[in-house]
Amino acid sequence: MRNRLSRIIKPKDGRTVMLAVDHGYFLGPTTGLENLKEAVEPLLPYADCLMPTRGGLRNYIDPNTDIPIVLRVSGGTSVLSKEMLREGITVGIEDAIRLNVAGMAFSIMVGSEYERDTLLALTEVIDTGEEYGIPVLAVTAVGKDMKRDARYMSLACRMAAELGVHFVKTYYCEDFEKVVDTCPVPVVIAGGKKIPEKEALEMAHGAIQAGAAGVDMGRNIFQSSNPVNMIKAVRAVVHENATPDEAMQVFEGEGGTVRKSSTTDENQQLSDRKV
Ligand code: 5RP
Repeated sequence: MRNRLSRIIKPKDGRTVMLAVDHGYFLGPTTGLENLKEAVEPLLPYADCLMPTRGGLRNYIDPNTDIPIVLRVSGGTSVLSKEMLREGITVGIEDAIRLNVAGMAFSIMVGSEYERDTLLALTEVIDTGEEYGIPVLAVTAVGKDMKRDARYMSLACRMAAELGVHFVKTYYCEDFEKVVDTCPVPVVIAGGKKIPEKEALEMAHGAIQAGAAGVDMGRNIFQSSNPVNMIKAVRAVVHENATPDEAMQVFEGEGGTVRKSSTTDENQQLSDRKV
């Protein structure tokens, strides 16, 4: 368990840059991930860990890729569903082991009408993970009607930790140190919907300063106008304590693959509506 965790959260500084590319499990061909292989490959050298789905891993990621995998193991509903927040277990432990994962990620929906289902399913994943030494990441998903404040995030993160997860992914909010300080396991932040690069770097910086162990960021990297420079800039914030201004210099530096930033298509709007 500890060895797998050390592949995800680097022991040198206790931090991690996780690249989230699991969005297809409820969003289908998410903007920026239409060809997941092409999107992800240039980013891999700068990520500490990759978070795909089972199908994403199987179909788009070269098995020779030497990067720890935190596998998305929850799902079952799409962005179109009225019961979107009702996720269950989608991958059995045997397949997770066969895929040689370093960890498993499961979304919990604290405060939604399905919270009980998701919390009990989470504990099943934790129990099987414990049996084989595979750490579990709780993703504290937030419904569109729920308030993303420190009170709610602390509640969800602490509950997940008390139920036995090894690390938590949540959304950044004001007074984020309250979330981190009351959670006994490492906390990483999700990026959320695409925002201007400077704002995303300020958010990552705020989270790190508040004591977060890093980021598990997706859209703010792969939907950036320059995804390679953006992940380099995020890395500078996480591992080098760069300020947002210093990180912007990294972002504006040479190199990287420039792609057209697309934030207005239908898929994007669906994505923004949920998470
Ligand atoms: C949904 C998720 C996502 O699928 C994803 O990992 C989120 O990453 P980002 O918000 O940075 O695009 O966790 O709850």
